This record gives sequence, C-alpha cells and structure tokens, in this order.
Amino acid sequence: MNSRKALEQVSAIIENKDLNIQTSLDEICRCLQENFKHYDWVGFYFRNGNLEELKLKSFAGEPTDHTIIPFGKGICGQVAVSNQNFVVPDVKAQDNYIACSINVKSEIVIPLFVAGENIGQIDIDSHQVDPFTKEDEDLLTNINQLVAEYLQKENALPVFESN
Ligand code: SME
Repeated sequence: MNSRKALEQVSAIIENKDLNIQTSLDEICRCLQENFKHYDWVGFYFRNGNLEELKLKSFAGEPTDHTIIPFGKGICGQVAVSNQNFVVPDVKAQDNYIACSINVKSEIVIPLFVAGENIGQIDIDSHQVDPFTKEDEDLLTNINQLVAEYLQKENALPVFESN
C-alpha cells in the first residue's frame, strides 16, 4: 500500500459514524499493520491523565507488557518529553530502550499534537533493520494530524481522564 491510499483509508475509518473512538483507533492500527510489511506492531499511546506517563490506548500486533511507560523511559517516553520524531534504525544501538519482543529490530515514534500540545504518539515496531524512511515519517505525521482533528471534533480529550 502507498501513503496516499493509507491516508484515504484512515480518513474513511475516521468518517465512519458506526465506529467510536476506540474502534476507530483499533481499525487504524489494524489497517497500517496489515498493509505495510515493515509495520509489525502499531500502537497509539496517550498521556495518562495528569500523570507523567503514557498509557496504551490501542494497538495491532502481539500484546505488549508495556501498557504504561513513564515519561523519559524508552523511545516512547523520550518522545513524550522531546516533542520530536524518533526514528531508530537499530534498537540494539539504543541504551534507553524498552524491549517488547526479541524480534523487534527497529522502531519509529511520532508525537501527536493537539493545539501545539504533545498529547500522545503513534509507535511502530519492525522486525526489519532500518526500514523507515522520510515517507513513513510524513505518513505517520499526517495520520496523527487526522487523529488529532478527530479527537477534538468528538470532544474526546483528554483521552484518559485525570487521575
Ligand atoms: N520499545 C518502546 C516500548 C513500547 S513497545 O515498542 C510496544 C520504547 O522503547 O519506548
């Protein structure tokens, strides 16, 4: 699948009034994981209420133990603090990395902004070394923007209530 087609499918999922927020995010994860060979695990994490941690909201792929990730820990936790895209061509080269499965060789995490605030992220793991390109970064940035607009429109923010 190419990026244009993926964005069309994500838009269609978001516009489908039969789906709620949870099922829409689940469908987006499934669509990406099934259609891109180098996407072995796809998930959305969001800030857990007012805590300095991320909580897994939706995913496709093998279940992970890492449903809560403190800010600063692992690739995801670093992106929660840096507000920057993080592309990891080879996870073995990272010290601050949380391993989900021995099969994972690389990872990409793109922050998700609403009104300039970093509220979560899309996280993708791959079983290939160095598969991610600028095209992946652009696609995932665009998907996050669609999801951000959707969450705002549905009054679904914050994704997780304050603790
Ligand atoms: N590897 C991530 C943890 C989340 S799993 O990939 C699902 C990290 O280092 O933050």
